[in-house]
Amino acid sequence: MLRLNETYLGARVTSTEVSRASSAHVDVLARCQAGEARHAGSLGWLHVGDWASDEKIAQVEALAARLRERADTFVLIGVGGSNNAARAALAALGVRDGSLDGTHRVTYAGNTLSAFELRRVLEDLEGHEVVIDCVAKNFETLEPGSSFRLLRQWLVSRHGEKDAASRIVCCGTPGSHLEDLCREHGYEFTTFPEPVGGRYTALTEVHLLPLAFAGVDVRALVAGARAEEARLRDAAADPADNPAWRYALVRRLAWDAGLRVELLSFFEPRFRWFSKWYEQLFGESEGKDGRGLFPASAEYSEELHSLGQYVQDGTHQILETFLDVLEPGAGDSLVLGGQDIDDRFGYLDGADFWDVNKASFSASRSAHARTLPCPTIELDRVDEEHLGRLFYFFMFSCYLSAELLGVNPFDQPGVEAYKQLMFETLGK
Ligand code: PA5
Repeated sequence: MLRLNETYLGARVTSTEVSRASSAHVDVLARCQAGEARHAGSLGWLHVGDWASDEKIAQVEALAARLRERADTFVLIGVGGSNNAARAALAALGVRDGSLDGTHRVTYAGNTLSAFELRRVLEDLEGHEVVIDCVAKNFETLEPGSSFRLLRQWLVSRHGEKDAASRIVCCGTPGSHLEDLCREHGYEFTTFPEPVGGRYTALTEVHLLPLAFAGVDVRALVAGARAEEARLRDAAADPADNPAWRYALVRRLAWDAGLRVELLSFFEPRFRWFSKWYEQLFGESEGKDGRGLFPASAEYSEELHSLGQYVQDGTHQILETFLDVLEPGAGDSLVLGGQDIDDRFGYLDGADFWDVNKASFSASRSAHARTLPCPTIELDRVDEEHLGRLFYFFMFSCYLSAELLGVNPFDQPGVEAYKQLMFETLGK
């Protein structure tokens, strides 16, 4: 299960105020649960089953199985919403060297223009059987467009046109130039859902394909998201029991109280890429019209020794949202031996790092809550089901939060300005 723990909200945003705001704005919840007609072109993700039906999952699994026979390395070429969710899920599930099962791995390109990094991507492919997947909704974005050419040419130089073509998959909008290229050159083409913006694609084939290639149980992921959808969109349920709604209200009240940053803090480094996904989701969805909490993240306990000082003692403009996992999973226990030399850490004799980490978490939250609201999103455990829940929870919360703030969660006009200048420089 996933819960919102409001115990550490503190005095600046109280649970009572959240309940009061809930009654005052409950029409927003009802509208978003139903899906507003004015956003119909962007709400394809709202009903998970529309783009992740059992039939669609079976197709994804079949394609992933064929690709797994062909290769051990899947290069996901994409940036932003076309990259983040798969990477977030794989890291959270505990990939090592890009692989969950030790045989098939996912690596990344299309998210940088750095020659140094791209050289490393190519070097890292040596000695591997490779397939590439170019994910590009518009196929105009510079990073995936340039990486696709680089990787495609690398494959052709290695295998020749025909064999290379059988190692290329593209995920784009039906009717796009990318689809034309696929038809013309014999590349596999998969669908980037038209009514789903990049950052809302976590539970569509955009990400399910790389995840299935890596051996993730995508059925469980989707089942978790469906269960969360059923709970959060249940119009008959008491809004007090809707954690996404209450979290969105906390964010809005935090904004009204003058807070300007939301820090997603976690004590499991496996959430590093999940926090990048979260930053993109909220940054592009809410940061507009001079409004929106700046979404940032803190990887504790390491960053207690850097950001922690500011969080505790700085401007007090931060809403600190903790992400906490309640139950240890396989591999979450490591017991420290008893004292052998006099290192003065005798209080740790026989302690489990799981408990030590929890002690650090509890102490940090209590300390930070003296000055900052610290809501906590609690997950029972980290597995496919709970990640599916988490993705849906944040996407739906983001929709609610943006509506409460009065901004359009589904556009990103702000990124056009730099693109225009860059394309002028590059002579496009
Ligand atoms: O959320 C979004 O819409 C964006 O962040 C896109 O995902 C990102 O810009 C990549 O777009 P595209 O897939 O068209 O290259």
